[in-house]
Amino acid sequence: MLSTPLMKTFGLRYPIIGAPMAGVAEAPLAAAITTAGGLGMIGVGSQASPDFIIEQANLVRDQGPFGIGLMVWALKSRPHLLEAALRAKPDLISLSFGDPTPYIEPCHRMNIQTAVQVHNRQEARQARESGADILVAQGTEAGGHTGHVATFPLLQIVLQESDGRPVVAAGGIATAEGIAGALAMGADAVWIGTAFLTCSEARQRALGRARLLEATEMDTVLTHVYDRIQQLEWPEPYPGRALTNDFTSAWHGREADMLTTPGVHTEFLARRGDYRIDYLYAGQAIGLVNREERAADLVARLGTGAETHFRQRMKNIMSD
Ligand SMILES: Cc1cc2nc3c(=O)[nH]c(=O)nc-3n(C[C@H](O)[C@H](O)[C@H](O)COP(=O)(O)O)c2cc1C
Repeated sequence: MLSTPLMKTFGLRYPIIGAPMAGVAEAPLAAAITTAGGLGMIGVGSQASPDFIIEQANLVRDQGPFGIGLMVWALKSRPHLLEAALRAKPDLISLSFGDPTPYIEPCHRMNIQTAVQVHNRQEARQARESGADILVAQGTEAGGHTGHVATFPLLQIVLQESDGRPVVAAGGIATAEGIAGALAMGADAVWIGTAFLTCSEARQRALGRARLLEATEMDTVLTHVYDRIQQLEWPEPYPGRALTNDFTSAWHGREADMLTTPGVHTEFLARRGDYRIDYLYAGQAIGLVNREERAADLVARLGTGAETHFRQRMKNIMSD
């Protein structure tokens, strides 16, 4: 059996953390991942309410260890999201996309572990100096908002900066082999989003799930278009990786024109749920996702597969 310090801290059967994904990873998905022996996380969007956090947490808590994922940039104007997350008493709070320093201590006062998604060496150092317990190396191939360095070099960089803290690999991992590879490099666990997007428990419209299932690894773009059209205050260093469609083809790289062209915003609002226009955030690992399954089955398949692969590969390539 695999066993890493991070797995021991949270009592996990598998080194799998279900990424917090606002709008998609809510209580049903988080609970399913936790029940299966991973660590499920609830994604909290910038517009979420404190009540949403408490309600969602209440639905997961009895299943075992769970986490809540917050966006740092949104906490500046909405500090009550952190207050609600603390009251919800999760085992883990993630603080991503901004300087986490002011928010670590309040979590520690409540005995809650903290994880920070980092995207380069400078952010890894900042997270370490802030006192974060866990560093998550989020590569640019990840779905949703992310940075510009790929998981492979980034994980090596973050391992150099971790100073003994557990490091978790995020971005592009969707197979047993991927998990075994990340652990072999030195990660204590993996943080998976895209592979869970088509699970039965993910909050997903049928049309969106179908589109995700047919997409390949060539069908994503890292773009600001959806943040700009929605007038969200996402910081410049973190564009979002979404599936390509008519909207990204028309406006990616032309965001300023998009905002001054009459009718674009109105059409975007009128066609929410039409994925030729609307967004489906997903990473390059979408090319490895080709079926709808229950999250528990996916966790068990990836977790046991990683154990088998790790053992077999070591046996095959190590000599005395
Ligand atoms: C649909 C979607 C929504 C996401 N929302 C959030 C979020 O609310 N907070 C966050 O910290 N990360 C968010 N992420 C990023 C994930 O936490 C994670 O880093 C990423 O999914 C890992 O890479 P992968 O998609 O290749 O597995 C989101 C990702 C996706 C695909």
